[in-house]
Amino acid sequence: SAQKLWGGRFTGKTDPLMHLYNASLPYDYKMYKADLEGTRVYTAGLQKLGLLTEDELSKIHQGLEEIKQEWDEDKFVRHADDEDIHTANERRLGELIGRNIAGKVHTGRSRNDQCVTDLRIYCRDIVNDKLLPFMKDLINVMILRAEKEIDILMPGYTHLQRAQPIRWSHWLSSYATYFTQDLQRLRQIVERLNQSPLGAGALAGHPYGINREYLAKELGFAGVIGNSLVAVSDRDFIVELMSWSTLFMNHISRFAEDMIIYSTAEFGFIKLSDAYSTGSSLMPQKKNADSLELLRGKSGRVFGDLAGFLMSLKGIPSTYDKDMQEDKEALFDCLTTVEHSILIATGVVSTLSVQKQKMEAALTMDMLATDLADYLVRKGVPFRETHHISGECVAKAENLGLDGIDKLTLEQYQEIDPRFSSNLFEIFNFEQSVERRDATGGTAKSAVLKQLDNLKTQI
Ligand code: ARG
Repeated sequence: SAQKLWGGRFTGKTDPLMHLYNASLPYDYKMYKADLEGTRVYTAGLQKLGLLTEDELSKIHQGLEEIKQEWDEDKFVRHADDEDIHTANERRLGELIGRNIAGKVHTGRSRNDQCVTDLRIYCRDIVNDKLLPFMKDLINVMILRAEKEIDILMPGYTHLQRAQPIRWSHWLSSYATYFTQDLQRLRQIVERLNQSPLGAGALAGHPYGINREYLAKELGFAGVIGNSLVAVSDRDFIVELMSWSTLFMNHISRFAEDMIIYSTAEFGFIKLSDAYSTGSSLMPQKKNADSLELLRGKSGRVFGDLAGFLMSLKGIPSTYDKDMQEDKEALFDCLTTVEHSILIATGVVSTLSVQKQKMEAALTMDMLATDLADYLVRKGVPFRETHHISGECVAKAENLGLDGIDKLTLEQYQEIDPRFSSNLFEIFNFEQSVERRDATGGTAKSAVLKQLDNLKTQI
């Protein structure tokens, strides 16, 4: 059809469903700013080559500015024939400044270098303007909380069985550490993706010798992609971003799962604020941790975005093939989900309340059995032996129906091993157990505060 940008060699009409199937405007309109900016810089490059006059360039730039305003104000009128954001913007430019001038902006350019230029700009801006600062906020909220609530103890778990006492702040710091690692990975990814494909043409390069370095610099790219085939077909940056998202959401999911468990009546360690909870339509008493369950659930969705796109990407011959258009819906869904998840997690953590009494009441003396073994180690007994002795003490207290290993008498201890003496009872102190672990990365107050200080220097 004559309406299509590429319609010259066609005589038949596009099947209506084929048009919809092929069109990406319903989702790639999100890149309108990047697309207009790319055209602004690209046409400046054309003008430097003498392919546009200064007057033409200024008309083009005015038109692009007007189109941006239309998008900004949600006044851009889409045409049924628009295929994607690139063709829609070019069509509109023609309407505004005349087709004889607008018809020159695509000289030497292809939608193949154009669409991936837009996408790289879009990703870079989302990461820099949203994901990185939002991640920093999340980590900061966790650090602040950990510092303020440094004195609260709670059970640490392995196999979800009570293991050893830790600080609540130590647990918070553990996830803050994961998120800080995620932050650093994300910084590396944005650095790698910020390379310019523009000027690579459809696949073979630029026939008018455009200065690609100039285009890259003007668009805020750190450099140019050095092979035109790679420039138009490389989607590794999308795979990297979605892999990053999958790993990050995995951390978010485990974080949420801990909090779901901690917020049950049976644990009662934390209470979610009303702002991040919902009720039941039938059971009036219910307050459900939907925010946390969604954080956990949406990690599956993000992994699906990655897995789906990887399936599409594999086996595509070089260079551009329409399969690649599938990058956008997966990526946009992934980025939006991650962005919202960071904000929700930040809200949950900053508004929940910690139930100190419940946490500390959940500490039981058997969690100090390792400390009991360490007591004999300090008297020169090999740990493998003390481990066994401490286990016997646990069994003895249990068999006698006592409420904890601290309830055995000194005589009962000495029946098991004569090396026990009366100062052994000093180990039955959770605070001291936590404080003894003062090596780097441990639960002692000094060690936790050091972790938090370290994180602050990394974010
Ligand atoms: N909408 C397309 C995409 O997102 C733009 C590239 C189209 N290129 C082409 N040769 N048909 O991938």
